[in-house]
Amino acid sequence: MGIALITGASEGIGKELATLFAAAGHDVVLVARDQAKLHAVAQSLKKNHGIQAHVIVQDLGQPHAAETVYRTCQTNGWTIDYLVNNAGFGLLGPFTTTNLSVEADMITVNVTALTQLTKLFVPHMVASRSGRILQVASLASFMPGPLMSVYYATKAYVLSFSEALQQELRGTGVTVTALCPGPTNTKFKHRAKMNNPPHVDKSALDVRRVAQAGFNGMMKGQTVVIPGLAYRFFVFACRFLPRSWVARIVHFNQKQRL
Ligand SMILES: NC(=O)c1ccc[n+]([C@@H]2O[C@H](COP(=O)([O-])OP(=O)(O)OC[C@H]3O[C@@H](n4cnc5c(N)ncnc54)[C@H](OP(=O)(O)O)[C@@H]3O)[C@@H](O)[C@H]2O)c1
Repeated sequence: MGIALITGASEGIGKELATLFAAAGHDVVLVARDQAKLHAVAQSLKKNHGIQAHVIVQDLGQPHAAETVYRTCQTNGWTIDYLVNNAGFGLLGPFTTTNLSVEADMITVNVTALTQLTKLFVPHMVASRSGRILQVASLASFMPGPLMSVYYATKAYVLSFSEALQQELRGTGVTVTALCPGPTNTKFKHRAKMNNPPHVDKSALDVRRVAQAGFNGMMKGQTVVIPGLAYRFFVFACRFLPRSWVARIVHFNQKQRL
């Protein structure tokens, strides 16, 4: 069936994606920092779906993290056919006052580790003429993000990188999909220090629905997946607005979350 490696699988969208792989009969390799949560997810997947679930406890913000993850898979003979780069986080606040070391860590996790893991795992996929890569980007990928400027920029990178790689790999049997969800009901907002007004929380997407859309899109080899009709329309409409207007709209929305 093929093994799936999922980063950020201890919670949220990553945990739901791991569940979908397990339900489809795939063995999984789960990566994140929280050992107890990862083992709990692995145990539950093994019990409920009868698959093998392996755990790699790794902070992807550490130097050489991607190499460590890759070498652990090599050493254990886990051949990765599905790579899901989902681990990531954001930080709300004016750039003049946010913490640089948190933002540097964010760039490492959201951009560097994602790129390095893709670089390390894609050659085998191309050699075997089969593989699927899912990069978790965001609605933020399509616009500038005042008060979350670094996070939005990392997600713009993820989308651009994924679209380019999907084109480069055409005809190889390997596909790259960027999943671009809008606000989704997970711990993301707490980690990002966002105080969402109630109407934003009410309209947040269901995490299972987001994971299912990403999983389906990846399996079909789609380039970009935006869950929810309203969000697809929003991204479409943004194409016709000056970027400076879009930045103002996002700024207005983010101010309400401070
Ligand atoms: N929720 C949203 O509104 C939303 C919208 C668009 C895009 N996204 C994207 O979706 C992805 C998943 O986020 P989520 O909403 O599921 O958030 P979440 O519930 O906070 O989960 C984030 C996952 O990433 C892992 N992670 C964070 N930092 C890590 C690090 N340094 N090393 C290894 N793993 C790390 C966390 O595990 P540990 O803490 O155990 O390490 C956790 O499993 C992120 O890339 C996020 O940017 C989220």
